[in-house]
Amino acid sequence: MARDPRYDILFEPVRIGPHTTKNRFYQVPHCTGMGYRDLSALARLREIKAEGGWGVVCTEQVEIHPTSEITPFIELRLWDDQDIPGLARMSEAIHRHDALAGIELAYNGMNGPNLYSREVPMGPSHLPIATFTADPVQARAMDKEDIADLRRWHRQAALRAESAGFDIVYVYAAHGFGTLQHFLSRRYNTRSDEYGGSLVNRVRLLREIIEDTKEAVGERCAVAVRVTVDELIGPTGVHKEEMAEIIGLLAELPDLWDFVLGGWDNDSQTSRFSEEGNQEPYIAGLKSLTSKPVVGVGRFTSPDAMVRQIRKGLLDLIGAARPSIADPFLPRKVEEGRIEDIRECIGCNICISGDMTMSPIRCTQNPTMGEEWRRGWHPERIAAKRSDSTVLVVGAGPAGLECARALGQRGYRVTLAEASAELGGRVARECRLPHAGAWGRVRDHRLQQLAKLPEVEIFRESPLDADQIFEFGYAHLVIATGAYWRRDGIARHHLESIPIGEGARILTPDDLMAGARLEGSVLIYDDDHYYMGGLMAELLVAQGAAVTLVTPASEVSNWARNTLEQHKIQARLLHLGVRIETNQAVARIERGGVATACVFTGRLRELAAETVLLVTARLPQQALYRGLLDRRGEWTAAGLASVTAIGDAWAPSTIAAAVHAGRRYAEAFEEPHSPDAMPFRREVTALAGA
Ligand SMILES: Cc1cc2nc3c(=O)[nH]c(=O)nc-3n(C[C@H](O)[C@H](O)[C@H](O)COP(=O)(O)O)c2cc1C
Ligand code: SF4
Repeated sequence: MARDPRYDILFEPVRIGPHTTKNRFYQVPHCTGMGYRDLSALARLREIKAEGGWGVVCTEQVEIHPTSEITPFIELRLWDDQDIPGLARMSEAIHRHDALAGIELAYNGMNGPNLYSREVPMGPSHLPIATFTADPVQARAMDKEDIADLRRWHRQAALRAESAGFDIVYVYAAHGFGTLQHFLSRRYNTRSDEYGGSLVNRVRLLREIIEDTKEAVGERCAVAVRVTVDELIGPTGVHKEEMAEIIGLLAELPDLWDFVLGGWDNDSQTSRFSEEGNQEPYIAGLKSLTSKPVVGVGRFTSPDAMVRQIRKGLLDLIGAARPSIADPFLPRKVEEGRIEDIRECIGCNICISGDMTMSPIRCTQNPTMGEEWRRGWHPERIAAKRSDSTVLVVGAGPAGLECARALGQRGYRVTLAEASAELGGRVARECRLPHAGAWGRVRDHRLQQLAKLPEVEIFRESPLDADQIFEFGYAHLVIATGAYWRRDGIARHHLESIPIGEGARILTPDDLMAGARLEGSVLIYDDDHYYMGGLMAELLVAQGAAVTLVTPASEVSNWARNTLEQHKIQARLLHLGVRIETNQAVARIERGGVATACVFTGRLRELAAETVLLVTARLPQQALYRGLLDRRGEWTAAGLASVTAIGDAWAPSTIAAAVHAGRRYAEAFEEPHSPDAMPFRREVTALAGA
């Protein structure tokens, strides 16, 4: 199909310093949890973005010197010439598809404890380092020699970036992560020399580094500057008015301005806390302060929203991290007039959890993310079928939908049978919870794609038992029947049932998602620690209940630190009037209340509640699966060759894991493999001389 002329503007070339990008789609720097450990995997990941049509594809932040590294996080490194070939592999991969390659040079300074190098971190002032983990380490204030060193190191890194083939070299002063931003901020910069005090002084180091970089590589590389336009902490931080002055001071110096909002948590806000395009008020007006192109972000998945940003004069280039992760082929789809095929980011930040847990990036919507090199998966392509085998997939949740879709894409004939009237399984239920609507895109995208696959037939309201399955005569059966929440309290804290007295009223999230409404006093016991406990609290407050949330953890939704949401969730619940009791495990449930035990002392307390909502653990829905295994002797006569449980029906986990499991089944189906072989490729570091 031809592209809609409305979107022509997105395909205009834009000059960036000595280069011209072929269109306005710009993959801004984003890390992947792969970094220096998984270089070939990372090169392939970036290549696929370039193949998908992004005019510019950037690396993540790249550490430029061992005096500033952010172990345990795994980023790229450009410490010396040894690092050049790995990065060159990336730029070459990007160039193969006619995209520009950008590299973000980063000196984190007081943002990293230097656990690997054991060098003393440096910053503008003597201050404790500002990390997620509150390491007991302080940065020392840089003297003039240190500043000269930093300028030299940055220059050397820029030259190495140039020789690694990059077209755009970033100077990074954003997210509260880089020394250059720390110097800008009067919160961190309490110096009394010419690098502190007045704005002109605080800007000095940034100016010098931009000038150094331009001087070193400016002929062959564009120099981009990434800044946080507002730290969102009021007058003590960098704020929009001050940033306007900063841009005024440096306006024409870089070749490109890249604007972001706040720390990483406010830049990469989840859909639970913000809408697409939420950064607009913060960047409005800034572009007029420079004649250089401006890139900005805002979880842009809609080409109409993108066009609007350009027509309104807010941006020249549409920056995207998450939309490019969820759909590396987004630009191509716009170009080919296939808007409905765009796999829209749901704003869950599971991608960020990869980096936060030092594991390769993953994505709820795009199961191939991070698997491009090690498993050879591609977001748009999959191997053709090997036979005319037929597959019955039971259960149309995230695992079943993706499995049926990917098998259908391979050309297999698939029947997808869902017991209920509604497709989507847990996604359909969970996306009705407060602020979770965007999660429905996991279902919507797959249904939209399935509608194009004549090989896949979908049956709703079709609960199946073993006898019916034997009658159908399918060769292969996939059980994707999901999971259900436990009612006995067993989870992380309790490995045995919590004692429950007679007449106690106990519900689980399944009851609320099925429509139960609660008023009066409700005690949520959250031993799950991700989003469900907080969402249940929000839902119940909206229903008029008085909610107490008890958790054995030291904070609400503890794991959501990995999606940069924990503090926002806790703040929201506090604002809603939810009473929060941390470090408490429910020890006993009675009619009208519970006893909780302090996780440290065991000291018991009584808390009154008419209803207890257990958000603890889930059990796989395996009745059908187990029933079929019990009748294995009848399989051959029924023509059944394999029965496989996938996703939550195998072991409950995230939606991302369920989608991945569906894809994995389809990718591996009838492909030769040995159970003893490594399930994926990995890169083993070459040994240096002893
Ligand atoms: C997984 C992930 C990793 C990121 N890593 C970086 C990084 O290394 N450097 C950086 O400047 N920004 C980083 N960001 C922020 C993004 O560049 C971007 O500014 C932000 O996510 C908002 O854009 P989006 O809504 O298009 O995702 C990261 C974002 C994500 C989602
Ligand atoms: S993991 Fe979630 S937030 Fe990240 S790109 Fe995928 S869908 Fe978007």
